Amino acid sequence: MNKTLQMNNTLNKLGNYGIVPVVVLNDSKDAAPLAKALCDGGLACAEVTFRTDAAEESIRIMSEQFPEMLVGAGTILTTEQAERAIAAGAKFIVSPGLNPEVVAFCLEKNVPITPGVVTPSEMEQAIKLGLKIVKFFPAEPSGGLAMIKAVSAPYTMLQFMPTGGINPTNVREYLKYDKIFACGGSWMVKSSLIDSGDFDAITELTKEAAKIVAEIRG
Ligand code: 3PG
Repeated sequence: MNKTLQMNNTLNKLGNYGIVPVVVLNDSKDAAPLAKALCDGGLACAEVTFRTDAAEESIRIMSEQFPEMLVGAGTILTTEQAERAIAAGAKFIVSPGLNPEVVAFCLEKNVPITPGVVTPSEMEQAIKLGLKIVKFFPAEPSGGLAMIKAVSAPYTMLQFMPTGGINPTNVREYLKYDKIFACGGSWMVKSSLIDSGDFDAITELTKEAAKIVAEIRG
């Protein structure tokens, strides 16, 4: 398969899930039960944030034991982290800001990356780097859906993955807008639920999230 097509396929798959659970894992022993809970809940995808020492091993475990799952790495700040995440099995990379070096590195490796942008200048930089899908972060403090709608007028080629402050109450409005590729959020995978081993609650919250996507997008 052609490399651009391969990257597009990965992102399309992510977009079809509509909501991407943003996960902080403190202990890689939780990686497999968490992956199972997400798969059982109907969102077989996750952005595992590279904020903890357990992230790399967790990505490895989830990718190996749940090959049907689309596992990516988030909070990637350096090319060294991107390299480790990809080697561990990350199929996509997310970063809070736009670092051209990290973007170029991922594209060179044929791994899709959605860097965080907020301003028109950052969006133009993303377009220049050949990106069509960007993370809009932190979404709610940065103007939320109103800001995305405003910038979509000039930047018709961009689609957005808003993350930061998205919850079951406001996610519907985002998902209804056709420039929203998917929404990132942590409400169904709160650290308190993971750390206390309440994977049943995670499955239930994930089912509710998947149901919202189905309601809005059919
Ligand atoms: C994060 O960086 O942790 C993500 O933006 C998730 O944000 P949320 O906890 O507001 O969903």
